[in-house]
Amino acid sequence: MKNEDMIPCQDLVEDSNNSNNSHFQTILDQYTSRRSFIAKTTSGAMALAFAATVSGCSDDDNDSGTPDTNPTTPPDTTNPDQHAWSDLKARPNKLTFEPVRKNTQNFFSVPEGYELKVLYAVGDPINPAYPEKTDATLASGASYQFRAGDNHDGMSFFGMHPSNKNYAAKESTQGLLVLNHEYLQQAQLHTPEGPITIDGVRPEDQVLREVNAHGVSVIEISKDANTQEVKINLNSKFNRRITAATEMEIHGPARGSDLVKTIFSPDGTLTRGTFANCGNGYTPWGTYLTAEENWSGYFARQANDTRAIAKEEIALSRYGRGGSEARSSQYRWNTPVAELTGDKGLYDRWDISVKGTSALADYRNVMNTCGFIVEIDPFSANTRPVKRTALGRFAHEDCRCSNPIPGQPLAFYMGDDATGEYIYKFVSDAVWDPKDVNGGYTAGDKYMDKGTLYVAKFNDDGTGEWLELSYGKNGLTAANEIYPFAGQDDIVINLRLAADHVGATKMDRPEWVAINPENGEVYVTLTNNGNRGRAYPTDAANPRSYIDFKDSNASNSGNMNGHIIRFSENENNVKATTFAWDIFLFGAEARAASNINLSGLDDLNDFSSPDGMWFDPRGILWIQTDDGQYTDETNCMMLAALPGTVGDGRKALAASTKAEGQETFVGAKLNNDRVRRFLTGPSGCEITGVTITPDYKAIFVNVQHPGGAWPANQSERYSRLGKVPRSATVVITRKDGGAIAGEALEQATA
Ligand code: FEO
Ligand code: CA
Ligand code: CA
Ligand code: CA
Repeated sequence: MKNEDMIPCQDLVEDSNNSNNSHFQTILDQYTSRRSFIAKTTSGAMALAFAATVSGCSDDDNDSGTPDTNPTTPPDTTNPDQHAWSDLKARPNKLTFEPVRKNTQNFFSVPEGYELKVLYAVGDPINPAYPEKTDATLASGASYQFRAGDNHDGMSFFGMHPSNKNYAAKESTQGLLVLNHEYLQQAQLHTPEGPITIDGVRPEDQVLREVNAHGVSVIEISKDANTQEVKINLNSKFNRRITAATEMEIHGPARGSDLVKTIFSPDGTLTRGTFANCGNGYTPWGTYLTAEENWSGYFARQANDTRAIAKEEIALSRYGRGGSEARSSQYRWNTPVAELTGDKGLYDRWDISVKGTSALADYRNVMNTCGFIVEIDPFSANTRPVKRTALGRFAHEDCRCSNPIPGQPLAFYMGDDATGEYIYKFVSDAVWDPKDVNGGYTAGDKYMDKGTLYVAKFNDDGTGEWLELSYGKNGLTAANEIYPFAGQDDIVINLRLAADHVGATKMDRPEWVAINPENGEVYVTLTNNGNRGRAYPTDAANPRSYIDFKDSNASNSGNMNGHIIRFSENENNVKATTFAWDIFLFGAEARAASNINLSGLDDLNDFSSPDGMWFDPRGILWIQTDDGQYTDETNCMMLAALPGTVGDGRKALAASTKAEGQETFVGAKLNNDRVRRFLTGPSGCEITGVTITPDYKAIFVNVQHPGGAWPANQSERYSRLGKVPRSATVVITRKDGGAIAGEALEQATA
């Protein structure tokens, strides 16, 4: 979700967007043609860094540089789960690629010696029966069931066994790329006619296009072992779009609950659609997890909607749909007349108002079927995805599984991205058995339907506690004074209310989670909070409140640039109820005061608003930004880092609204060998979603809501389709075919 212009109807949960961020047009105005930029870049480091941008524009030719003289050895598929999680022998001891300089150009910049290909952009067909989408032609709404959706986000690569056609974690030459489509750029999506609303009613074809442009893509890709060239296999039987209309199973404590019964599923076992899919995760058994984030704004609620059950109003308020004022659906998906499909329920379900004689006769409960982690088995193309309700319902940003250790439970760590929301974990009852690899939804049932939920409390002394969210414990009963809980189904559906009661710590918008493959330490991005220091007083875990200038405007104050917190479970056990924490990195401008730039960032690694984040199996941490604060000086970016461990730094005093400053704990300062900028995206975009092939020779990154004319201005293929900007997946390789960011290891072993 872009920080630049949050969807306004999220105001109840997203109260941080009161900063003076620039509008989209401002960024468009910054567009400079590539030709004029090359002319302006005359010398020095800037020219060097941008040379890669220019020479990297090679997505249509087959010449990807010197062929690899050491093609990859055939994959060992006898132990398919091993490499997906930990491959520390492949970790370089420092980062030596040429760092990319900050810039505001409408181009994608990668290090010298690297090149990029735009692989999969909005509207691209996943089936040869559909033509390419050009700016001049309107593709039908229904056709988007077979086209790339919008606003690409979280993403994972799953290697595929060449003959068994199932999950093979070490396979790099063929696999399934699975990625989220979070929300819409309506004006671009409906090119050339543009978005239409007549007397408050949306045309059905446009709503179908929008519904289908949400959800998840599964696409089969191949990578040439010699040239590293990546292609999409349009004829694959695995290619699939899961949309905001796809039928899904409800599993876990909410299955069959009265709280999820609707006219569509009177027994409360099914629902339709996944949407607002932000970050992601994957399981050791080879399935994909998608996180439902900003979903409540999709639902209309009429002004006269009243609930006979008083606690329903409390629940609706905590999830953005309370109060007596009419609330419209942000895209008005509840309004079309079902002329094309004849399926009125497809649209009625976006209005949660009481209309029938009971919950079985309307969609009053449908919002309770949204806001979950959804499991998708990409190798099982014809089955229903599963909503894993045991992991709770909130604005799920991301979901990451702990390092799987045979005989130990699995933990799933998750952030709730709204201002002042919480960090959670779910610990499975079942212990990990590697025989469950390729177990599909059956393995999911085993590890994700039964277990214990916790929410994090960060103490000011660098310790923390996991507070249990189970029915009957910690006051989570029918006698609860905040909300009378009826059972574990009620707790998972209204998890924020349970977490409020037990006293969880309000964080600066928890976004992605990453698990260090070396030691199991958990990293969480806290993207920013423009109200920290005011409505949210500083504490040790959210310690900064300061003024940051943007475009010479000093009105922005709070935690303007975000930070990355990390924690280590007691005795390295995922079942622990205590942990130790510190702050790995503080986002900041390099020139900021030392009590703001507490991590000592410099011009080659300074960043703002960390969001996407992932440890690859080697232990390289990839950090992505979704920023609206430093964008006067640089586009969003991705950095690489080689972290140490929790507690390797010092106690520090952060800039705060407290006169004496706010005491906190900051990790060891990393010099440029340990954290540096790997890429910048085109102006207007957010960089989000990252995955890599198991041989580390191709890294995939998503560009969400770019501005200007990107990717047409950086890709011959897309220049033929028009100039309207499109979100897209790019794949980055090294011209010499080496491992991404692996140069130091190659030099050491040469
Ligand atoms: Fe969809 Fe919190 O970003
Ligand atoms: Ca964000
Ligand atoms: Ca600034
Ligand atoms: Ca995000």
